[in-house]
Amino acid sequence: MCGIVGYVGSKKAQPILIKGLFNLEYRGYDSAGLSTIENDDIEIIKTKGRVNSLKEKSENKNLNGTIGIAHTRWATHGKPSDVNSHPHLDNSNTFSVVHNGIIENYTELKEMLNSKGYNFSSQTDTEVIPNLIHYYYSKGNDFIHAVSLASKDLKGSYALSILCKNEPDKIIATRKDSPLVIGEGQSEFFISSDTPAYLNETKNFYFLDDNDIAVITKNNIDFYNNNLDKISKNIKTIDWSQDSVQKNGYEDFMLKEIYEQPNSIRETISSTLTQDKVEIEGLKLSKEYLKTINRIYIVACGTAMHAGLAVKKLFENLCKIQTEVDLASEFRYRDPLIDEKTLCLYISQSGETADTIAALKLAKQKNSKTIAISNVIGSSITREADYSIYTHAGPEIAVASTKAYTAQVTLLSILAIYFAEVLEIENPQIKSLKQDILELPSKVTEVLKVNDEVKELSKELYDKKDIFFIGRGIDYPASLEGSLKLKEISYIHSDAYASGELKHGPIALIENNTPLISIITDKKLVEKSISNVQEVITRGATSIIITNQKLVENNFHKIIHIPETNNYISPVLSVIPLQLLAYHVSKLKGLDVDKPRNLAKSVTVE
Ligand code: AGP
Ligand code: GLU
Repeated sequence: MCGIVGYVGSKKAQPILIKGLFNLEYRGYDSAGLSTIENDDIEIIKTKGRVNSLKEKSENKNLNGTIGIAHTRWATHGKPSDVNSHPHLDNSNTFSVVHNGIIENYTELKEMLNSKGYNFSSQTDTEVIPNLIHYYYSKGNDFIHAVSLASKDLKGSYALSILCKNEPDKIIATRKDSPLVIGEGQSEFFISSDTPAYLNETKNFYFLDDNDIAVITKNNIDFYNNNLDKISKNIKTIDWSQDSVQKNGYEDFMLKEIYEQPNSIRETISSTLTQDKVEIEGLKLSKEYLKTINRIYIVACGTAMHAGLAVKKLFENLCKIQTEVDLASEFRYRDPLIDEKTLCLYISQSGETADTIAALKLAKQKNSKTIAISNVIGSSITREADYSIYTHAGPEIAVASTKAYTAQVTLLSILAIYFAEVLEIENPQIKSLKQDILELPSKVTEVLKVNDEVKELSKELYDKKDIFFIGRGIDYPASLEGSLKLKEISYIHSDAYASGELKHGPIALIENNTPLISIITDKKLVEKSISNVQEVITRGATSIIITNQKLVENNFHKIIHIPETNNYISPVLSVIPLQLLAYHVSKLKGLDVDKPRNLAKSVTVE
């Protein structure tokens, strides 16, 4: 939700800020703005719309400042408009602030500041921040003390980059519950919400922790804690290349990421699994500990939660531990029954999802051990968890998650095998499951060959009002994921149901020619699934089947064949035609595949 960047060095800041914003645009894209310091004065340019509009608007201004901050917004408070765009200034134009997050007590702060004579021109929660800083500054505190005092008054989440007109050589950055990293170059620093903003400029990043304050000038960076004691921080090297955040000839990031899946799965496997052993870097759990565990919770949001649902059965069948899967936004507020005998797994591609992080903090308070499964090294969730393990999917830029999901299901399946092996559970299935996981990359390559067929199918579906998905067993979570992909990027209404549930209500929605997509990959459930499909065909549905089975019936509208694999990991294959379908439907509708309306890549607010 929103991307922040900042630059301090010897080069012109404006193009560097714009470039950083373009690279972070997947985080939010309803308005954009920047501030530089020009001749000891704060210059500010902002506009409703995409970064491109800001680029055009700021290029006419001949900005020469070598220090600046910028923002691409995903509005939470105040609709997208020029005036609500960031940066925001205080009344005296001394401080310029970009903010990612939500200030929950902004109404009280606004009232307090109003009573001291401050006025507000926007509807945002953010505008209280520069004014609060100014309030403390006007009482004789210097820049850093004013920031520190103001941040102590803020409730909610924030990542901030701040310029002060009277100290024109520095940026102060701080955060709480929203991400912020600082890249180090040669006598220059790059601030950003996420590393992909500046991977060409540097590979070395500092990751701010909650309440850290960084004071950054072109030749120096100092870190302080809440009480303004100096602290030291280690720099981390990120090995992602700038190439990995470019489209590299593909029309859209989503298509590129779909096609990267053989490789992202291969990388995820090769870092953890060989035929002989499972070894997961960063994870060492003893048999004694795992024996004390009576429940596993898998907690996540959206697609990551669907990855959890896809592996629930595997954890239960292989490890013999009851496994629950929950939405982070529900888990965190329902006082879940967890204790030191519960092991909590948190899945998050970005590692920055506010609900997932809060759900993890809750488990820690209740003495449960926590494992983060993330795609981003150094992300907030990995710094909170007891253990962190990584999918090696590379940067995922498209808002709709594809390669992260298949890497998550793969890694979690390997994790289930790891638990079973540590527990010394004898299960003849483990050997063949390992072999099937090792063969996944080549099978994914094979599934991708359905692209032309799916593209043809999308021509029949792109103008439909509703499209339904069904599946049984392992195919149910896969259908949930297919349905989510379709609705988020094509805006077609879609729902997914467990096949057996249809006749308990949803079947009332079936009309003549309603498309119904069924995933059928579990040999043991084929007949049952087919019966459900027949029930909807009888009521006029157009039936599209995704299967790895040989079906004898011939009254289906379309069958898409995918390779067979161990049923536990079949969602890795069955989801791919559905990713492609969502992609082609969205393209046919002329939509922005990578940046669907109302969404953002990292949901860093509740
Ligand atoms: C998926 O296509 C999404 N846009 C969304 O559901 C996403 O998976 C969810 O917000 C969780 O994100 P995370 O994995 O970064 O925590
Ligand atoms: N709450 C702020 C706003 O609505 C920041 C939102 C964001 O993180 O983009 O402007």
